Amino acid sequence: MSKLKSVAELEKLRQGILSQRDPNKPCVAICSGTGCHAYGSERVYEAFVREIQGNGLQEKVDIRRTGCHGFCERGTLGVIFPEEICYLSVRPEDVPEIVSTTLIENKIVDRLLYLGDDGSKVVRERDIPFYKHQSRIVFGNNRLIDPKKIEDYIALGGYAALAKAFFEMTPEQVSSEVKKANLRGRGGSGFPTGIKWETTRNAPGEIKYVIVNADEGDPGTYKDRSLLEGNPHSVLEGLIIGAYAIGSHHGFFYVRQEYPLAVENLNIALEQARALGLLGSNILGSDFSFDVTVHRGAGAFVSGESSALMTAIEGRVGEPRPKYIRTAVSGIWERPSNLNNVETWATVPLIISRGSDWFTSIGTERSKGTKIFSLVGKVKNTGLVEVPMGMTLREVIYDIGGGIPGGKKFKAVQTGGPSGGCIPESLLDLPVDFDELTKAGSMMGSGGMIVMDEDTCMVDVARYFVNFLAEESCGKCVPCREGLRQMLKILNNICTGKGKEGDIELLEELAAVMTDASLCALGTTAANPALSAIRYFRDEYEAHIEEKRCPAGVCKELIAYYIVPDRCPACLICARNCPTGAIIGGKGLVHVIDQEKCTKCGACFEVCPPRFNAVVKLSGEPVPPPVPSGAKVTWRK
Ligand SMILES: Cc1cc2nc3c(=O)[nH]c(=O)nc-3n(C[C@H](O)[C@H](O)[C@H](O)COP(=O)(O)O)c2cc1C
Ligand code: SF4
Ligand code: SF4
Ligand code: FES
Repeated sequence: MSKLKSVAELEKLRQGILSQRDPNKPCVAICSGTGCHAYGSERVYEAFVREIQGNGLQEKVDIRRTGCHGFCERGTLGVIFPEEICYLSVRPEDVPEIVSTTLIENKIVDRLLYLGDDGSKVVRERDIPFYKHQSRIVFGNNRLIDPKKIEDYIALGGYAALAKAFFEMTPEQVSSEVKKANLRGRGGSGFPTGIKWETTRNAPGEIKYVIVNADEGDPGTYKDRSLLEGNPHSVLEGLIIGAYAIGSHHGFFYVRQEYPLAVENLNIALEQARALGLLGSNILGSDFSFDVTVHRGAGAFVSGESSALMTAIEGRVGEPRPKYIRTAVSGIWERPSNLNNVETWATVPLIISRGSDWFTSIGTERSKGTKIFSLVGKVKNTGLVEVPMGMTLREVIYDIGGGIPGGKKFKAVQTGGPSGGCIPESLLDLPVDFDELTKAGSMMGSGGMIVMDEDTCMVDVARYFVNFLAEESCGKCVPCREGLRQMLKILNNICTGKGKEGDIELLEELAAVMTDASLCALGTTAANPALSAIRYFRDEYEAHIEEKRCPAGVCKELIAYYIVPDRCPACLICARNCPTGAIIGGKGLVHVIDQEKCTKCGACFEVCPPRFNAVVKLSGEPVPPPVPSGAKVTWRK
């Protein structure tokens, strides 16, 4: 590869790549994102290579490893273009049939298609309900690109936005276009990106930095990883455009340590971009030079906070500092430093290519464009979804996510990561938008969406997040460090039957102090999970405290398992599955749980056949006295 010295050379390269590609030639795209990799996508890829070669199809069929397609739950995904035939849960042993049936005979392998609730099969990826309701403007190219090949990105028009910014726009015009687009940051509080860029640009000092925040510490969130793994050039292109607008000549990718594939693909992308003159000195023959360093984070949640992240890049412990002066003005080594989230940067080339008017035509009045969510938890279709801002939670959870599995009832959805909040069923028609989520006591955060069903205890959920934050608090300031510790203690008490009157009020009081007086946003938002649970599920708190009852039957200290004597036919299944030997009984004898030995693991409850439904969970009521040992079964069919 030789360095490109002009826009014309970039366009010539793109035309050259396209001229070697036949859009009608079949191409098997195998998802090789981390999710599918865990399912064994590499072995699926190798099986395709073997079968294609074995059948002499090397010249007739292309094969491509891609990044995450979003529907990770059904990995490994294999999509055959141009028809877009989407095979789900592909295993190496399925590959010979796919090759002989689809690639040779042009027929569909029915059993690998998506099966709808009504029994219908769906052939094309875009027609699967999970994808049909999405608008994948940022994430959609993942399935079309081998992230290790810059040619794939360029073939789709990659780096054209950079060329446009450099040669058709001044840095001020670039900033102003992003400002007009009203692009709000996708990593946290939704701060307007264009305004932040201008602040850094106008801040005094020759040397300025731009940074990609790929720390992604929220439990259950993995959209930044999948973007960086699957389409690293889109993030890089956005970063270079931002650097040009801001007047920065050096950038950083701060990537969490646990993302090895993202780092690998990113490093390859950087090398290829440098080789083509898209990164480094005099990019595309212009007088603008820019290069980047990859910094691997140590995996602390708090290090994703802007001042902590910048301190970590300086080589010190990644803890927040007071921001009397914003990092946009005084960041890394006290120089103006602009930090944006991976998804924010990846959105920039789209705004420059298609214009702010196009971008603002998507979304709500104050939240423009799309947002990627990690849709996880108790929902049928889990994965990464990209939706226009303003889509309702109900549409995301039911139309895309397919609703709640196992016929259970929806209870709440947690958005915004550990500092977000739980939104109840009554607000399911809330449009997904920065301000609406905040008004509801949650927040957009970086795009976690955890769905919970009726079997979830909201006090226990609050305890889980408070525990996470208590462990992740850097401990630098008292309100956060001690506030979280005390909150956790109170929540532990409530969940274990030691809650007392006044606990809810004490939690609210602590929350107010933490929110007002903590140093960084970890502390100021840490009370959200507990507060939102109190706001929407206060009755659950009260049941725990006043009646020592866990309505969802989750808190171990507040529940007991009991076998209803006249429902038990002595099928022996529960006794065989009890890990502690707590179930007494034998053939023809009613089974009885020895409450002293029972660890409340729930195995008996899970395995007792539904037609008997003999094992029940009790909470807030005494366990009936056991039937005398040796009592015969009275159950009749
Ligand atoms: C404790 C804490 C952790 C954070 N972690 C992340 C993170 O992992 N990724 C991210 O983009 N922003 C994270 N943020 C938000 C950043 O501080 C910052 O607002 C964001 O990276 C700015 O980018 P944006 O404007 O594009 O959203 C975190 C904030 C806090 C307080
Ligand atoms: S609010 Fe918490 S995480 Fe932030 S600086 Fe204070 S102790 Fe550290
Ligand atoms: S809950 Fe677990 S330990 Fe207790 S009786 Fe059932 S299987 Fe045994
Ligand atoms: S990793 Fe394959 S679909 Fe997400």
